[in-house]
Amino acid sequence: MKKIIIQSQLGSYPIHIGYKTVLKHVSSVLTSLRLGPHFVIITSPTLSHLYGYKLRRHFSSSVKVDQILISDQEKDKNMDTVQKIISRLIKLKAHRKTCLVAFGGGVIGDITGFVASIYMRGVPFIAFPTTLLSQVDSSIGGKCGVNTQEGKNLVGSFYPPRAVFSECSFLKTLPQKHYRSGLAEVIKYAVIDNQKLWTILHAHPSQILKRIPSVLEKVITSCVLTKKKFIEEDEKDFSKRQILNFGHTIGHALEAHAAYRGITHGEAIAQGMYTATDLSLQRKLCRPKTAGGIRSLLKKYGFQKQPLPPNISSTIARDKKRENKAISWILIEELGKPQRVSIPQEVF
Ligand SMILES: NC(=O)c1ccc[n+]([C@@H]2O[C@H](COP(=O)([O-])OP(=O)(O)OC[C@H]3O[C@@H](n4cnc5c(N)ncnc54)[C@H](O)[C@@H]3O)[C@@H](O)[C@H]2O)c1
Ligand SMILES: [Zn+2]
Repeated sequence: MKKIIIQSQLGSYPIHIGYKTVLKHVSSVLTSLRLGPHFVIITSPTLSHLYGYKLRRHFSSSVKVDQILISDQEKDKNMDTVQKIISRLIKLKAHRKTCLVAFGGGVIGDITGFVASIYMRGVPFIAFPTTLLSQVDSSIGGKCGVNTQEGKNLVGSFYPPRAVFSECSFLKTLPQKHYRSGLAEVIKYAVIDNQKLWTILHAHPSQILKRIPSVLEKVITSCVLTKKKFIEEDEKDFSKRQILNFGHTIGHALEAHAAYRGITHGEAIAQGMYTATDLSLQRKLCRPKTAGGIRSLLKKYGFQKQPLPPNISSTIARDKKRENKAISWILIEELGKPQRVSIPQEVF
């Protein structure tokens, strides 16, 4: 098992990564962090059915463990769900020392972290990410929140977990569509900053697509280390962290445009990476060879370029990355050399 510490101004926390090795450490980690004695697991009916029993077994018998089931569909990542959880927490008599447990993918993690940040002005939470995307991205960095009708993640807070337990064997039941969604974020890290990951992704697509444990653990650890570098330098997302938004300018707009149905976050940002790559080439920022390499990696993992909806620019304009009348893009000069570029709205 690997342990990576994320340094945060709001409290540092460990990420435990491993294959069939992580859960046995849960009880001792929670004791050392002095969390409990009341835990509330927030998860979906599917995940509770698949792993609920297994997870609960790893909490000490001396603590009380309750559970709240919610929908983990993107369309339900909203204030209604937040309100429902809060009502249930009050009924369960959750108090300021109650520790919330996010057990699921990015949707569960984002909602749970946000509820933890506001319930009784803040209670601790820990995360058990169960999707590739949440293990490589959303469970790290303390961003949490929900969508509104107007856009993605428009309500939220920075609120880090007290610990993250990334058990890679949870990924074996993840539907392929959602597994590939996580791979889009993995590709993003490879393009913006991780030459080693880029080489692994090009060299071993079949092992990665088949989720071979040893490769998986290596890929996840590599992604976490890349994200750590960006967020530790700019936790509140004022400068360097924005690089992690490569592919997200279009990606978030596509998700909002589809009303958060039918398209995964990864599928949306894969399209965003195609557009950002095209823009980089059009603006002569990068060479055709660099653009070709990015496109070929996206194709290798099953992401085909799709035409953008005709009115997508108005959806982008509502995105929170907008600065005045300009849209903030992350473009690519070469592999490992991204650039923040402000482009007037009417140009796109
Ligand atoms: N906070 C951040 O920094 C950050 C970063 C990136 C993405 N996100 C957010 O993450 C969300 C997407 O998260 P996601 O890709 O993890 O997907 P998800 O949470 O939407 O889950 C996808 C589906 O997989 C199912 N599932 C999850 N784990 C499973 C498992 N082990 N076995 C079987 N089924 C399983 C879920 O029930 C769900 O139906 C988006 O809302 C996105 O905005 C947040
Ligand atoms: Zn993302």
